This record gives sequence, C-alpha cells and structure tokens, in this order.
Amino acid sequence: MNASAKGLAALLPPRFTLGVATAAFQIEGALDEDGRGPSGWDVFAAKPGSIVEDHSPAIACDHYHRMPEDVALMKELGIDSYRFSLSWSRVQPGGSGPVNPAGLAFYDRLIDLLLANGIAPMATLYHWDTPLELDDAGGWMNRDTAYRLGDFAAIAAAAYGDRVSRWVTVNEPATVSTNGYMLGLHAPGEALMLKALPSVHHQLLGHGLALQALRAAKVPGEIGITNVYSPMVPASINPLDKIGAGLMDMAQNRLYADPVLLGKYPDAVRTAAFFSSFDPSSEDMALISQPLDFYGLNYYMPTRVAAGPGDGAVPKGMAEAMGDDLGGSASGSPFHITSFPDTETTAYGWPIKPEYMGVALAEMARRYPDLPPVYITEGGASFEDLEIRDPEGRLIIPDERRVRYLADHIAAAIEATSPGGAAESIDLRGYYVWSLMDNFEWSGGFKQQFGLLHVDSGTQTRTKKASYYWLQEVLSARNRAASPAVPGAEAVPA
Ligand code: BGC
Repeated sequence: MNASAKGLAALLPPRFTLGVATAAFQIEGALDEDGRGPSGWDVFAAKPGSIVEDHSPAIACDHYHRMPEDVALMKELGIDSYRFSLSWSRVQPGGSGPVNPAGLAFYDRLIDLLLANGIAPMATLYHWDTPLELDDAGGWMNRDTAYRLGDFAAIAAAAYGDRVSRWVTVNEPATVSTNGYMLGLHAPGEALMLKALPSVHHQLLGHGLALQALRAAKVPGEIGITNVYSPMVPASINPLDKIGAGLMDMAQNRLYADPVLLGKYPDAVRTAAFFSSFDPSSEDMALISQPLDFYGLNYYMPTRVAAGPGDGAVPKGMAEAMGDDLGGSASGSPFHITSFPDTETTAYGWPIKPEYMGVALAEMARRYPDLPPVYITEGGASFEDLEIRDPEGRLIIPDERRVRYLADHIAAAIEATSPGGAAESIDLRGYYVWSLMDNFEWSGGFKQQFGLLHVDSGTQTRTKKASYYWLQEVLSARNRAASPAVPGAEAVPA
C-alpha cells in the first residue's frame, strides 16, 4: 500500500490540489440550533419511507459541534484544500430576508481555522438543502429561487469573500432535477418526470446569478460550477441500445454542461415538444454561460444503457441501496440502466471502472474546446467496511478497496490529462475525495459509507481508516519529494 502511495505521489503534477469534500446537510446535524431555519431536506427525510431504514439526519456527524476536531483531522491528514458547503438555511433561515448571525459565525470560524492550518477553503453555495420556505414556494420549479441564490451568493461573498480560495455555485444540478423533481427520490420529492425541466433551467440560472454576484463583489477566489459526469455506454451494438445511451447522455450530462460551456441547450432538448412551453431567453443563456475560472467535475462511474424497460430502471441492488422502488417509474421506459459484466461494484452497486475516468475527461475535452481548468470536485466509493478490533480493543478498518478505488481513479485522471493522454488538452488542477467521513448519504441514509474516517453513530468517535493513512502517506511522500521550499498547503488569496 505504501509503495502505491509513493507511486501515486510521484505521478502528481506540480501544484496539483488534493482535497476532501463534504456537504453541510450530510455532516452538520444541529438542524434546530442557533437560529437555523428548516430546509426541504429536513421535511423530506422525516417522511417515513424516504430514507433507507428511516435514518435521520438530525445529528449526522455532529460536525456543527465537532468542527475544530474535524479540522484537526484534516490538518493531520495533510490535505491542501477542503470542499464544504454552506447551509443556506443556517445562514439565511428563510432563504430570503435577514441573515442569522450565529450561522454566519459558524462558517467564519471554520474558514479561519482552515486557513490557520494551511488548508485552502473551497465553499459550495448550494448543495441541495434548499430553505423550506423556498421549497414551499415551488423550489427550483419557481424561477424566483434562482434570484434568491444570487442574493445568497452576495451575502456569502460579503462575509467570506476575502478568505475563500474557490467557490462552487451549484453542486450537481442533474441529481437535484432527476432525483428531486423527476423521480421524487430526493427532496422535495416531486415526481414530475419531463415536466421537471424548468428545475434544470432555474438551477443553471441560479448558478449564473450567483456567479454574477460573486464577480460583482470582486472576490479574489476562483469561481466554478460542479456537474456530475457519467460516460454512457451502450450495452451492445444494437442501435436501440445506442439510442438509449445517447438519450441518457443528453439527459444526464449534456443538458447541464452544454448550457454552461456552450451557451445553449442540446438541439434535441430545444426542439423537443416538452420544452416548447419553455423558451429560455438569450439573456438567461448569457448569464448561464459566463466565463468560469474552473469547471468542477464529479466522476464516480460510467453508466451502461440497454433498450427496453428491463427489470427496472436501474439494477435491483442499486435501487435497494438507495431505498427506492424504481419499478413503477421504469414501466414503459424505452431503456434502462444495466450492470457491466464481470465488474466489481461498490456497496451502492456502482460499477468500479477507473478507465472511464479517462473517457469522461476525453469526452469533455472533445465536446468543450474552451473548457476552463478542471477540478475533480468529487470522487470516491461506498463499501461495507470490515471493522476489526486489535488486542487492546481499538477499531481497525482496513478499507483496501477504497484505497484501490482512489489510487486508480486519481492516477487515471492524471494520465488522461498528461501529454499524450486522451484528454491532454485539459488543465487538471486537482481531485477532492468524497468524503472526509462517513455521513448521511441522502436517501441511502448511513448505510453507504464513503469516508476516510469512520464515524460511530452512537459516540460520534472518528476512527481513521486505512484509506486515511494511505492519503496521508501520498501527501507526505509528495511533500518529501518536493523541495523544502514547497510546503504541503497551497497559497490562499489574501
Ligand atoms: C453528491 C454527494 C453524494 C455523493 C455520493 C454526489 O452525487 O454531490 O452529496 O454524497 O455523490 O452519492
């Protein structure tokens, strides 16, 4: 394991950022404390049957109370940067109107502590936890929510703009629209199918307005958006499988990347009848496609697509892990997601295919010639980790599969973007591991563990897994190899 840590360290390009990522709702808990307002996710998660085994996010990782301990663990890990999200309803409880000083102060302390420990803050403005008042008014189906996000960005810029190194406006709008508005598997639990399309445009508009607000505030940090990207692979040479894969590619990848990077929706979307009542103005498209300092890409897996309804929209294990019954939504579906043959999967049933990291980057490079520098803003894997006790009763978690997943994916991303690689035109700046710690995995509850740190749900004790020690070794090997003048942490804008 150490050898591969050194091997990976040797591959890292100069100034490549290695970080870890989390999101507020998944780790903070303290949902009713210090003036935080309710979010749509509070309500959705409390509905019986929404979350696997009805797990509750009320405490999550108790990060709200244990933040200094968590920063100390990041410092010890040696990461360059920490990607976290601001809980909108902690900072601005109603989603508009007055701010909550105690909420603002929490992130103030977090950012200061990160900087004091040489860790560059990357702040996500919107990672799915919409304030309830906004959800009650239609959430992302309501154009007004985009303007509220713009206002929230201005608040965040005024409070933290001097200290945040990188901003992500919106995280994975595809997941919010697909799971939250089309299928009803995430908050706000709407199953609007194709009628959910305005939620796509409004999130992208929210991105554009947030970007505009951050630019108006002249924040020195870099600004980008994060989209998830999954290469779509036809299950066979059957032309119908190919058509299915093309449709999925459009619905999950291009629908979100094209407007931001090309300034237009894919032609098929624009001409589709279901979009006819919805005609985005050129002003909106100009806001959405403003130049970015970086593009955030989340890569977890490729998706294999086959024609016909199959046994369900997704493989059975995957649906169960999400606590969803996708049978209903699959009926009559012209295509479905199917397993890759002979392929190891994560606890979620996601295929482990590091070679498709290179494919994802190559497709991005080909489609978007003006792509700005890229950060992989998330990547990681959930496993049912083995938990063993040493003779003194201490917990040991040898999560070698996670180590292998991370090592293979980081290496694949670097190789693809190196000279001669399939995506050599991409300026790849870093990789953030999802996640620092096991946390509330949305509708998957606490069953899907992605962390470098194990979190005991009773005592909240953090235990370092083998993957934590491995990443620590990668970072220290990199730092040893660099000249003494190059410290572990990168420069943070003043
Ligand atoms: C999201 C995270 C999530 C992770 C694993 C991404 O889609 O941004 O919030 O926990 O994937 O499912």
